[in-house]
Amino acid sequence: MRLVVFIMAITLQLPALYAKQAAFVNDTARYTACEASTKSGKTIGCMTWLLREACNRGGPGRNFWWIAPIYQQAAIAYTRMANWLRGTPGIPRMLFACTDSRQTIRLANGAVLWFKGADNEDSLYGEDVYAAVIDEASRCSEAAWYAIRTTITATQAPVKLIGNVQGTANWFYRMCRQAQAGKENWSYHHLTAYDAVAGGVLAAEEIEDAKRTLPEWAFRELYLADASDSLRVVFAPQGLDAQRPNLRDPILTLDYAIKQRREGTGQYAVLVPAHNGPIKVYMLPSETPDKLPFGLVEVERSFGMGADVSEGVGASDSVAEVFACDNMEQACEFASNKVSPSDFGRVLAALGQYYNEALVCPVRKLHGVTTLRARIGVRWIDAIAKRTPILRCVDTLDQHRQYIYDEAGRITQQALAELPPHVRDRHGDRVIACALALRACGDSPVFARTVKATSMTWAESVYGPGGYKQPGMAEAKKW
Ligand SMILES: Nc1ncnc2c1ncn2[C@@H]1O[C@H](COP(=O)(O)OP(=O)(O)O)[C@@H](O)[C@H]1O
Ligand SMILES: [Mg+2]
Repeated sequence: MRLVVFIMAITLQLPALYAKQAAFVNDTARYTACEASTKSGKTIGCMTWLLREACNRGGPGRNFWWIAPIYQQAAIAYTRMANWLRGTPGIPRMLFACTDSRQTIRLANGAVLWFKGADNEDSLYGEDVYAAVIDEASRCSEAAWYAIRTTITATQAPVKLIGNVQGTANWFYRMCRQAQAGKENWSYHHLTAYDAVAGGVLAAEEIEDAKRTLPEWAFRELYLADASDSLRVVFAPQGLDAQRPNLRDPILTLDYAIKQRREGTGQYAVLVPAHNGPIKVYMLPSETPDKLPFGLVEVERSFGMGADVSEGVGASDSVAEVFACDNMEQACEFASNKVSPSDFGRVLAALGQYYNEALVCPVRKLHGVTTLRARIGVRWIDAIAKRTPILRCVDTLDQHRQYIYDEAGRITQQALAELPPHVRDRHGDRVIACALALRACGDSPVFARTVKATSMTWAESVYGPGGYKQPGMAEAKKW
């Protein structure tokens, strides 16, 4: 297909689009979303479209926008388009004006084409836009998309959204799924590298080379425009699957009761055995390791506890996780979305005391996910990958699967991906408490109390405690 654009009877020769490319470029839906392979001609295709729109529908004060993730990237499209115009023989210079310093092209009909970066969201408000292209949409922020959306409200302008697939945790991926499901005014297109080969714009060897050199998921995303979810998860699935055999039912469950102190006004919590209580015990504080370290005959375990505080109004859980310091085995979990922050503190004190005066590491209120993003969380992510901890609770394990990197590369919970970042940051729970527990364990001695072997320990092990005393000895002395 040959695409010919007229500007006041001047013929511009633009690249001829191959059929699948043309189908997407010429789609007249208000919103056209295209997930496509790299080098499949998305950018070129949309450049011809935007220029055609500006020629056909331009007028004084009418803006046409090209948006790329950053300004420098928009420069690539600007330069290509400016070269098209400047390089066309016989086109009078009065018909267009390219301003390199501002990356704008003004056409004789009054239309202005702007090439902007989505990184400067504030520059994306205010103007009336008559057609827009969002290039590399999966790499543009969601805020930029909202800003662009406001500029096309009054004009009812058409928008083309094009990009590679970049995991599933971004707004472009979500919009594409909605478009694919038939959302009103939206249409969806999909171009793979094989389509580009068939269209004659990409060499088949190029794909084979990429297939050989790239990891499977990267090839799938970049060349087949197919989402690879494992790329985006925070905790590697292999590390989590390795925990499955460790899962147990709790050996006992406890609840807490708040009591009034006799001497003052303060309150404290006591732990009480309760069927289906919120405190799940997987290891008693008195349990000793199966195998004692060399040179020790008796140990008392030490425990580290991490705690994540929530509002206690039903939205998310307040969670405490207790781990044994010597083998990072999950000993206990408390989770409740009803406990108030002050009662939660009392429960932590009671649990800490029960677990041999465990070191408690609570998160500062409303900074749960921040913890996970900080070094403390990185260590926990690493520990899971190395299979250092032993997880016992199925809820704890399942929650790890929900953590993903969001469009900005920040750790977030999948269930909350639709919520604004400031709301997500407030949510925290088991995973965060675990990360903090790891830190607490790292800061604690391996055992709370130890009894060392002596030179007569061998005799105790043979005869039992004191069993090596010889009854005959006292008599022998008398002799
Ligand atoms: N229809 C076409 N005819 C000729 N060349 C094309 C066509 N579409 C794309 N190309 C060329 O293929 C290359 C990749 O195109 P581009 O639009 O930058 O791909 P993408 O944005 O999908 O990565 C460019 O060199 C471009 O000139
Ligand atoms: Mg491109």
